[in-house]
Amino acid sequence: SAAEKGGYEYFMLKEIAEQPQAIAETLLGRLSERGEIILDEVRLTDQDLRDVDKVFIVACGTAYHAGMVAKYAIEHWVRIPCEVELASEFRYRDPILDRSTLVIAISQSGETMDTLMAIRHAKEQKARVLAICNTNGSTIPRESDAVLYTHGGPEIAVASTKAFLTMLVACYLIGLHLAQIRGVMYADEVAAVVSRLRRTPDNLRDLLGRMEEVRALGRDLKTASTMLFIGRHVGFPVALEGALKLKELAYIHAEGFAAGELKHGPIALIDKGTPVVCVVPSPQGRGVMRDKVVSNIQEVRARGARTIVIAEEGDEDVRQFADHLIYVPHTPTLLAPLMTTVPLQILACEIASARGYDVDQPRNLAKSVTVE
Ligand code: G6P
Repeated sequence: SAAEKGGYEYFMLKEIAEQPQAIAETLLGRLSERGEIILDEVRLTDQDLRDVDKVFIVACGTAYHAGMVAKYAIEHWVRIPCEVELASEFRYRDPILDRSTLVIAISQSGETMDTLMAIRHAKEQKARVLAICNTNGSTIPRESDAVLYTHGGPEIAVASTKAFLTMLVACYLIGLHLAQIRGVMYADEVAAVVSRLRRTPDNLRDLLGRMEEVRALGRDLKTASTMLFIGRHVGFPVALEGALKLKELAYIHAEGFAAGELKHGPIALIDKGTPVVCVVPSPQGRGVMRDKVVSNIQEVRARGARTIVIAEEGDEDVRQFADHLIYVPHTPTLLAPLMTTVPLQILACEIASARGYDVDQPRNLAKSVTVE
């Protein structure tokens, strides 16, 4: 009913709007005043976590994209190898697992059969299993050694939005926690990231308050037959997630690429007017990456693409290459997916709704897939 949707046309729009609060809930009680991470609830001992020499992340769909972001964060902060793998592929590959392997299973529902079978396999091989989950008491956390709940609240729309952002936050917390316990980051370095994480709910509120142009752009793109998404570093999983949302909701052929791969094939797809969504890294931090994506934008534009550019506020220089420019608030590079994903959610939602589809119940999809 309309009341359940809190005045929004779709649950998805309501859940998009709830994201600042949802990520605040994920952070609640897990940060100290001094900017440390407190995850006593995670039932793995500090010694267990110090013994970890390899991390595998297993997940499906949108949760897998969260895992891809987590890999960048964990390897950068914790300095241990981290692989991310589609849960449906994991056990058939005979992965190398033992007691010092930490397997992180990410699942909104906690009931996805592919992910469940992956953790059962990991446990048989004596790996330690930590679940990141949104649903209290569900099967995956029950069968894991430990769990970090995202506390994002129930998600009704089939396409995941707030669950994705809260999974990202949970992954950041685990990465920082590992770095803190293993002594690979100084306390003030952890505290600096924590203080930026604390600001993200407000940053998101600002961003959500100015999505009118994105909605208009969505209506304008309703007749697109194909759309491409490019990004680099953590912008790559964001590109994949943007493409997935568009496929799921608008039934438009969409693909996400690592921007650097364009020249190795996908650029052949670009035709006059092909919409290409480009996720641009922050010019601060690792500016080289930003410049490379900007040259990719020029390349696709020279071949006729219509460029939809997601860039950080203050990046004025990118304007000249953008047919449409969407600014997001500044964050450190690794946290940027918390911002850059949001316009892509809204874009997919708006295109689908302009095409007359039921945004909350896309055809052929289920919220939780409990068969392999
Ligand atoms: C299904 C849903 C996706 C979801 C995936 C994983 O395919 O349609 O939206 O990302 O399952 O779900 P989970 O509950 O494990 O996060």
